Formats: sequence, structure tokens, C-alpha cells
Amino acid sequence: MKRPLYLNEKFTQKFVSSHEFDALKPFIATADSLVNNRSGLGCDFLGWVNLPESYDKEEFLRVKKTADKIRNDSDVLVVIGIGGSYLGSRAVIEFCAPIDGKGKNKSPDIYFLGNNLSPSHMVEVLNKCRGKRISVNVISKSGTTTEPALAFRVMKDYLEKEYGSEAKNRIYATTDKARGTLKKLADEKGYETFVIPDDIGGRYSVLTPVGLLPIAVAGIDIEALISGAYQAMIDFRNPDIEKNECYRYAALRTIFSRKGKTTEITIGYEPFVASFCEWIKQLHGESEGKDNKGLFPASMIFSTDLHSLGQYVQQGQRNLFETVLWINNPKVDISIISDPNNLDGLNFLTDKTLNEINKNAFMGTVLAHVEGGVPNIILELEDTTPHSVGYMIYFYEKACALAGYLNGVNPFDQPGVESYKKNMFALLGKPGYENMKSELESRLK
Ligand code: PA5
Repeated sequence: MKRPLYLNEKFTQKFVSSHEFDALKPFIATADSLVNNRSGLGCDFLGWVNLPESYDKEEFLRVKKTADKIRNDSDVLVVIGIGGSYLGSRAVIEFCAPIDGKGKNKSPDIYFLGNNLSPSHMVEVLNKCRGKRISVNVISKSGTTTEPALAFRVMKDYLEKEYGSEAKNRIYATTDKARGTLKKLADEKGYETFVIPDDIGGRYSVLTPVGLLPIAVAGIDIEALISGAYQAMIDFRNPDIEKNECYRYAALRTIFSRKGKTTEITIGYEPFVASFCEWIKQLHGESEGKDNKGLFPASMIFSTDLHSLGQYVQQGQRNLFETVLWINNPKVDISIISDPNNLDGLNFLTDKTLNEINKNAFMGTVLAHVEGGVPNIILELEDTTPHSVGYMIYFYEKACALAGYLNGVNPFDQPGVESYKKNMFALLGKPGYENMKSELESRLK
């Protein structure tokens, strides 16, 4: 079967020697066994490794059935969640959505809420909901995260006012199977619930109901998404880095990190790649950024950002490398027409497609940046089908886990995320935080 994703290392060769890979081989073998034997740090959260074959088939069918119901009875789905509880679904929806989504099988509009504390975002979404048929999918593994809990309080009130006792038939909760406030509330109110497996953390949860329900409501084939992940699971089982491009990518990132590169910039050449980059940034940032270690995961969309940050990439500090996510077959294309007067001097581009021009921008940029001392890893994705995107998701998940173990960290915890929460609760006067409140307030004076 044709592979949906290829690693092209041509533009890293000037910066890495083959003996550097050889030196990493024993460590890769160890990291591989930590993942496969479920014996590494955070090994209780390795459920994603076999998920493409071990997922709950009954729940999968229920997700599909519920998505059909929402597609039939709603104009809008509001997805409430933060971090791993929304980034994956937004990434896949934007990556796979057809450009002409306004046909007669038009999917409900999907709005994401509860991923910030912005009053204007909240009011904007509420305004967009007015007069429409609404459903809500509230997603929280812990069931206690402040941002989505507050957004849900607002949306629940809105739905109860609009639909009365019928509101419960328009609210779907995706959460832990037994624990947390959201689970308790869902049981009390009689909402349909979907389970986030115990052994899968938020940022690895896009192929569970966390991602699958909103993605299916968007009309995207979730079976194809899982089949792509399944193909990747098989392809990336081989611990030999000569034969495993996922592990080679993890090795390259590790090598660059150890020779002074501190920032990996993921590059897309289509604006719809931006949300996928946000998913990658969470995956890498929360998995690897700890114990004063880890690459800083950044992203840019070219050619847009070539006119803002491109100067820095070409000639700023040399602590960067780029990973370009190039799509071989774009969703659509358009040819450049001839102009009889050629006043803009662009007739040399007549009949070329915009994608051909975009590709030349990509090639020209890679050559320039490599010349400027910035290694470029190229990931060539065949197309934007759900199968290819499922494959790419699994590729990134496994590479991230491997790189975390290579760097000696637990890729599956996020202890640092708690610090701001504690301070925020104390400043807001949450019971139990009284001493901390006065101490923090004195520091703010
Ligand atoms: O990856 C993670 O675990 C986090 O980013 C969580 O997804 C995020 O904090 C949201 O947590 P929860 O789903 O418990 O509301």
C-alpha cells in the first residue's frame, strides 16, 4: 500500500552525519522498547499505541450514530474543550474540510468554545448561535478544567432557555468513564456520554471520541482516519531507524536539539495547516518541555510569514531548524490567466497553477534557508484525505513519545500546567487558597 507520508532528509544532510544516527541507535532501541513494553516513564498513558486496532468498536458506532443525529437536527455544534480536548478535532476538521463545503449536504457550523477566558469570544459565539438549531459537545477528561466548565455553564443555560427539558437531548459529554464533575453532571442530567480511555492523555486523544465526534459531525470519514493511523501503526513498528521514518524524524530532532538548535519551526504552505501546527505545538510542547529541556515548538505559514518572520529565519540567531509539512496534491488548484497588456510583467506565469508557483516558493525558500544555516526536514504528505491525516497523526504521536524518552523525560505528564491554575484560583478567592491569595497579592503590589 502506498505510504501517505514520506520523510525527505536531503536538506538536513549538510548538518548531520550518518555516524550521529549510528550513535543514537542503542538509545532508540531502548526508547522503542519503553514504548512497546509499556515500561517507560508515564507508561500508564500508552493506550494510544495500539488504539487504531484496539479502539472500542461499539462506542465508535455510537459516535457515528450521534454525529448523524447532530447533522440532522442542528445547524451549529459548539465544541467546548481546551488543550487536548479541542486542538485535535479542530486540526483535522480544518485539514480535511472540502473547500466547497456549502453544498446540499452542508455540515453544521462548528464553533470552538471554552479554550480561553475571552468575553468577546464567548459573546461572539453566543451571537452566532442565536436563531439556529444548536447542539453542544462538552469535552474534558478531568471534568474540572475551569475554561470549558465556565463555557459549559453559559451554553447549558442558553440551551435550557431555548429548549427546556429537551436541552438534555442536545448536550453530549465526552469525559472520564467514572470520575469528575462533568461525569456526575452528565449522569444527573441524562446527557449522552462518550468515554476518554484512562490510558490516553489529552494531547494523544484525537482518535478517541474526543476528536471523533466533532470530526464526524463535520462530515469527515472517521473510519478512514482510523485506517490511516492503523497503517502508520504497522509501518512504524520497526525499531531499525534505517527502516522507520518516524524514528528517523525523532532522531533528527534529538540530534539538532543536542547541537544547539533550540527551536523547531513547523512550516505549512496552506493556511488550513495552521490548526494542525497548533496540535503539533501542544503535543511537543507539553510532552517534551520539562526539566529545563525540550525544543521550543513554533510554527509559521509560508509564504505569508516569509514577509514577516522570514527575515529572522534567514539571518537571525542560528538556533532554528524547520520541519516543512508539504502536501503533494492540494485540495484544489487554479491556473493563472494571460493578460494582454502584461502590465504586471507576470505573463511568464500564464497557465501555471498556483500550486506550481507555491511549490517553487517552497523549493526556493528551502534552498535559501539551508544556505542561511537552517536545516530543513521535509515531510511530504500525499494529500488531505482523512486516511493520510490519520497516518500523519500517528506519525507525530509516536515520534513525540520516542523523542521524549530519548531526552530522558516523561512524555505523558504536564506538571507545569498546574502553576498558573493555582495562582489564578488563589487570586480569584477559591476556598482553600486563602494563604496563597495574600502572598500573591503582596507580590503584585
Ligand atoms: O494534554 C493534556 O492533558 C492537556 O492539554 C489537557 O487536554 C487540557 O488541559 C484539558 O484538560 P481536560 O480535558 O481535563 O479538561
